[in-house]
This record gives sequence, C-alpha cells and structure tokens, in this order.
Amino acid sequence: MNYQWYPGHMTKAKRMMQENIGLIDLVIELVDARIPLSSRNPDIDELSKNKARLILLNKSDLADAEANRLWITYFQKKGFHVLEVDAKSGQGMKAIQGIVREACREKIERDRRRGIKNRPIRAIVVGIPNVGKSTFINSFAGKACTKTGNKPGVTKGKQWIRMNRELELLDTPGILWPKFESEEVGRNLALIGSMNDEILEMTQLSSDLIGYLLAHYRELLAQRYQMSGIDDGTTALDVLTHICEQRKCYKKGREADYEKAASVLLEDFRSGRIGRITLELPAENGKTADR
Ligand code: G4P
Repeated sequence: MNYQWYPGHMTKAKRMMQENIGLIDLVIELVDARIPLSSRNPDIDELSKNKARLILLNKSDLADAEANRLWITYFQKKGFHVLEVDAKSGQGMKAIQGIVREACREKIERDRRRGIKNRPIRAIVVGIPNVGKSTFINSFAGKACTKTGNKPGVTKGKQWIRMNRELELLDTPGILWPKFESEEVGRNLALIGSMNDEILEMTQLSSDLIGYLLAHYRELLAQRYQMSGIDDGTTALDVLTHICEQRKCYKKGREADYEKAASVLLEDFRSGRIGRITLELPAENGKTADR
C-alpha cells in the first residue's frame, strides 16, 4: 500500500520548530504509546539539540501496560526522561511537574550559579498530528486554552501559558511529521487512524491488523468477537467472515460486506474496544507489526 501524508507541510512545520526552539529550555515530545517509534519524527533529536527532553507516552490507556513499561525502559536507556500518560482522562499527569524539574535540573542549577532567580522553565509540546498535543495542553493547563481536534494547524503569534512559578508552556504545539521510512511505519500510522482513511485500502489494512492480533493478542480478538476455535491455521479472511456474520455486515442479498467488517474491526481497535494493544515493541523485545 502506498502511504502518503501532507508532504507539502513538512518544511513549514520544521521552520516553525526552528523559529521557536531558541526560546525553549525543555522539549516535551508526545508519542503514541501504541506505536512509540512510528509516531516519532527522528528530526526532533537534531532540532532539540542541547535542550532538556521529556518524552510522554500518550494514549497509554489504549496501549498494552506491559509494553508501556518496556518502552519507558527503552527511552530511559537512551537518556530521555519519560512518563506514560493519558491526557484525555488526566491519568499520569500529576507526575509531570516533578519530572520536568528533574529534566531541567541543569538549567535550574545554572541559573542559581549565575544568581538568576525565578526565571521559569520554558517548554514546548511537540508531536505528530493527532498524538494528543492539544488535549495534553488543555489537560495540563487545567482549562481549555487551545482547541482540540485532529486537523493539523498552527496558531499565529506566540503566547505563553503560565503553568506555575516554575514553568511556562508555549500555547502552540510544534507539529512534526512522521517519517515514512518503511511500509511498516506507514501501516502503523494508518492503523491508529492518523491518516485519511479514504485513501487507504481498508480491507488490506484490517487483514494486516488481524494477522498481528492472531499472532500477539489472540485472546483479546476471540473475546471481542466471541470467536471460538482460533488456532494457528485461522486466517484474516476467517476472522473477517466471522465479523460479517456476527455484526450482520451484509450487502444486498446476504453477500458478506468485508469492507464494513473491516471498518468495524479498525474502529474497535482504535477506540480500545478490543483491548489494550501495542503494535510495536523495542527491537530487543522482538515484536513488530510484521506478521
Ligand atoms: P493533536 O493536537 O496532537 O493533533 O491531537 P488532539 O489533542 O486533537 O487529540 C487527537 C485525538 O486523540 C482526540 O480524539 C483526543 O481526544 C484523543 N486523545 C488525546 N489524548 C488521549 C489519550 O491519552 N487517550 C485517549 N484514549 N485518547 C486521547 P478525537 O476523537 O479527535 O476527539 P474527541 O472526540 O475525543 O474529543
């Protein structure tokens, strides 16, 4: 499948980041906990050089709890400060202030040595579209300061949200574009709903997802669709046919409507109704979205 995504906006987004980065002490990078690597843009490391870094595994409520722990260790080993959060419900948000202070310890020390008092840490929230940046800023700031929605866009003019005496947040999140370095990355982004479904082949995508679920989350799949007898010989088509029957996805004349079954499955997955599922694990843990 050919995955494409707003290529024309990439340069603009990068420029916005470059313009703002000079004002920043701390980069708070949101990734989607279900695909922590596929939802990153590797340019962020170059753009944030010499800044304090905090990675938030957002939407951790939708991801596998065990996988969240593995990813935390993975990013910590790479020298990042990292937390799992659910910006929508607020879960995990209380720990942020403490970890921000830890991540910025050097800057705080430097200010103290130079006799600078009460200069707040200035932070920017960055991430690819739909990863939860606006939701996070709203939740963290405790009121609706920015609009949420899944359309990427940049607000004009810089404004700082004063979180407390120690921390100011740029009200406009930095938008990064994911890097389609492999088909797997494209597929992962498509699976979590970060691409326009209209350009995707939904039955192919759902078959890929079923293949992955059969390999790694068989129980959850069986439970969700009350499908007994799943074994190593079960195919994606068997599962889609079962969903057609179970959810009455028929075209006229009782012909199975596989496209409808595919969107039922994808919608169930994206909203967490199948269960908490992570699509990629750190390489050393050996679970990727490949079948
Ligand atoms: P963005 O600024 O990075 O583009 O993302 P935004 O905050 O607009 O969030 C994109 C979608 O992700 C929103 O759903 C939002 O509610 C959801 N979301 C954000 N953080 C979390 C989280 O931690 N857990 C879960 N489960 N969902 C999260 P939406 O369907 O576009 O809007 P809504 O119907 O939820 O308001």
